[in-house]
Amino acid sequence: MWMGSVSKLLLLLSLFPNEGEQPEKYAVVFDAGSTGSRVHVFKFDQDMSLLRIGQDYELYVAIKPGLSSYEKEPEAGANSLRPLLEQAEEVIPQQLRATTPLRLGATAGLRLLPGTAAQDILDAVKELFKSESSLNYKPEWVSVLDGTDEGAYMWVAINYLDGKLGKKYSKTVAVVDLGGGSVQMAYALSDKAAANAPPQSNDVATRLALGTNYNLYSHSYLNYGLLAARAQNLNLSGAGNPCITNGYQGTYSYNGVDYKASPPRSGTSLLGCVAQARKLLKVDTPCPNKPCSFGGVWNGGGGDGFDNLYAASYFYDTAIEAGIVEPNANITQVRPYVYLKAAKKACSANVDNIKTKFPQLEDYDVPYLCMDLVYEYILLVEGFGINLIKKITVVKNLEYKDSWIGAAWPLGCAVELLS
Ligand SMILES: *[C@@H]1O[C@H](CO)[C@@H](O)[C@H](O)[C@H]1NC(C)=O
Ligand SMILES: *[C@@H]1O[C@H](CO)[C@@H](O)[C@H](O)[C@H]1NC(C)=O
Repeated sequence: MWMGSVSKLLLLLSLFPNEGEQPEKYAVVFDAGSTGSRVHVFKFDQDMSLLRIGQDYELYVAIKPGLSSYEKEPEAGANSLRPLLEQAEEVIPQQLRATTPLRLGATAGLRLLPGTAAQDILDAVKELFKSESSLNYKPEWVSVLDGTDEGAYMWVAINYLDGKLGKKYSKTVAVVDLGGGSVQMAYALSDKAAANAPPQSNDVATRLALGTNYNLYSHSYLNYGLLAARAQNLNLSGAGNPCITNGYQGTYSYNGVDYKASPPRSGTSLLGCVAQARKLLKVDTPCPNKPCSFGGVWNGGGGDGFDNLYAASYFYDTAIEAGIVEPNANITQVRPYVYLKAAKKACSANVDNIKTKFPQLEDYDVPYLCMDLVYEYILLVEGFGINLIKKITVVKNLEYKDSWIGAAWPLGCAVELLS
């Protein structure tokens, strides 16, 4: 009798598998960048493993131009997202739409618009999402992403793909993300280290990722991204910059400002360029809360979560162009000194022979290879204090199951939204 009612109950239960739980969940993340808008749709199973949407582990659609091109016509900007929104909704089953979070993060381009232009565009996007989307929309999910969040999402994305989330903080990897406008450093701290953070610092936050809380240190250095650093570098030297490739004479444009770019009469100089990079990183700025990276910024104190460093974005792109990593390699271990070694070769080349020495170099980077390599080396070794012979991992895509997935912030954002 007793056995009988239990087996009846079990039979009943088996008729309603996982009642109340959905078999899968989705997140939709818009990345509103300076050159274009992109939508990412991710699909996860109960255990938060990525599932395929069609062939790939995400739906990805991109359009140009970016929202920042609609300064004077915010509605048109919002409308430019409509086809992306429609394609995103199409792949999500009807009954899951209302619980699928819809997030839009705007990066560099929108941050730089004058006056209320950025807010006007975001308001128009909110209106579009509210009136036309069947997804789970909240006004606070449409925003300009601050650099700290961008760094944290990138940390989540890389640790997720690397299978580190859910493990102890000491098993996670640190992530340095060199963008065009800013560079982000993010890594996990021990409870003790987090408790000892300088009281006025906003760089440590508790973040829930895959059911585990981490004390995440994340700092964004505005204007120290690769393209911004070039502008700062040229601005510091005036005409005659020791980092510019021999034989080049031209201008560099950044954020609508033109900078004269040419080497000094004495020619390009590795040592002169190193001195420039140190000057622009302000490595000698007093440090109110020790230890510091550069410019007087508290560096989080290091520790086990900092020990294993992944370097992404321009660290990867420059390494490809300089032949430091093989073309098509998605992930490679290198030691920081190889950037300096490549710089030695780049700084002694000239515009006519640099592409024979560096076959992967793009034309538009010909004047700046010496500058970029020296900057990236000084940033790693003197800025972030990485030993020049310590192995770091330069990464673009990570292997996940039987596929490769790009290391980018929207995936980390999706994981956090659903955690
Ligand atoms: C260029 O230098 C001037 C004067 O030193 C400074 O005010 C300005 O902010 C600098 N611009 C950049 C992009 O570094
Ligand atoms: C690198 O990743 C891409 C996908 O983004 C993939 O197509 C390619 O095969 C990967 N390269 C190698 C060498 O595995």
